[in-house]
Amino acid sequence: MELWHIRGGRRLEGSCVVQGSKNASLPILAASILCPLRCELLNVPQLRDVDAALRILRHLGCRAEQHGNSVYIDSTGLSCCSIPHELMEEMRSSVIFMGALIARCGEARLSLPGGCQLGRRPIDLHLAALRQLGANIEENNGEIHCRPSTLRGAEIALPFPSVGATENAILAACAAAGETRILGAAREPEIVALQDCLRSMGAEVGGAGSDTIRISGFRRRKSVSCRMIPDRIAAGTFACAAAAAGGDVLLRGVDPKHFSTVLYFLNQAGCDIISDTRSVRIRSDGRLRGVGELETAPYPGFPTDAQPVLMATLLRAAGRTEITETIFENRYRQVPELRRLGADITVDGNKAVICGVASLRGAALTATDLRGGAAMVVAGLTAEGETVICDDGHITRGYEQFDRRLRALGADIVREY
Ligand code: EPU
Repeated sequence: MELWHIRGGRRLEGSCVVQGSKNASLPILAASILCPLRCELLNVPQLRDVDAALRILRHLGCRAEQHGNSVYIDSTGLSCCSIPHELMEEMRSSVIFMGALIARCGEARLSLPGGCQLGRRPIDLHLAALRQLGANIEENNGEIHCRPSTLRGAEIALPFPSVGATENAILAACAAAGETRILGAAREPEIVALQDCLRSMGAEVGGAGSDTIRISGFRRRKSVSCRMIPDRIAAGTFACAAAAAGGDVLLRGVDPKHFSTVLYFLNQAGCDIISDTRSVRIRSDGRLRGVGELETAPYPGFPTDAQPVLMATLLRAAGRTEITETIFENRYRQVPELRRLGADITVDGNKAVICGVASLRGAALTATDLRGGAAMVVAGLTAEGETVICDDGHITRGYEQFDRRLRALGADIVREY
């Protein structure tokens, strides 16, 4: 159990290099087994979820090492196509190994994945997409067994642009005979990143970033090197921290297009935002205004992962903000904890209304999930006195050196572990 001690009220000043993307790295780590080759992945954040993916790769018989932000994988020795429950339950992204294993071995045996508890998180769309490609999958009491199958290209129409189902379908389709078209695909930057990495491995895949992705085969290369895109949610979190605490922060190594909706709302709240292609400067006097209505949506809409953090940013903003969460059923788990700081938030179904209060006061909180935990850190930066967040590892699943990066900007934050 870790304790995060935050004394609020300090302005944030300076520059911060934002980490590589967790949600791009995880499917790319799974993709590294698609064919027997050596992979070098650069700008991979050092995170608990990345460790979990590396442990899965080693269990499968691959060599997998991380040195700083570089990961080296050699999947030539892959010798097994099953993943035990204790590795599957570590994170949600373990499910992406299903498509990758089916592509590499034609079969797979695994169980339902873990991950943040954000409500129901079924994998029906993943299974339906893989079955359309010819995978012979049985599901029994949470155990998933894909028997040896021959994959053939297909037209897969996703009823909802699920990020994970799109990733699994792309990976399996790389090994299918003939062309696959995924209609209604997720359009997130992480899907484009997966496509770009697969292309460098030799896959014929195009269309990522639009709602139609085409995959028509694989011409294997000997080795591959790819660099992870910047983490748009971590970037949005630092932008929110600067907005809430007040200050002048330059975020470097980011792609502002990827989190433009977060920047839009911070601007509406009264922050001054200047961006170029690789950096964003946020200036805030810490006196924000409510932003009216905002709704989460699949990319390019406002990201659900940034919702708890933006909520925390607006707790002291003058006026109201009304949030509608449309992606996950239970993504307001941070609310009871934020209320302990004195926040005025009411939740009714998938709507949350924040009425800004004049001040927050520090309290003892418990991190509920990754982004909820980050939201508590942001709120703690603006609260009077000390906030202590008790966390059993949620925050470090997704944020690399979060405390060190915030301290470098002037925050009074200590992580005790
Ligand atoms: N859904 C289904 N059936 C499926 C798949 C999804 O009903 O087979 C539903 C889910 O229950 C959810 C919605 O569709 O209500 C969205 O799920 P999606 O599959 O798009 O999300 P995911 O792949 O499980 C990824 C990110 C999440 C991020 C979501 C949405 C990774 C590792 N995770 O999850 O990131 O919130 O997309 O953008 O890429 C995080 O980083 O904190 C995080 C939760």
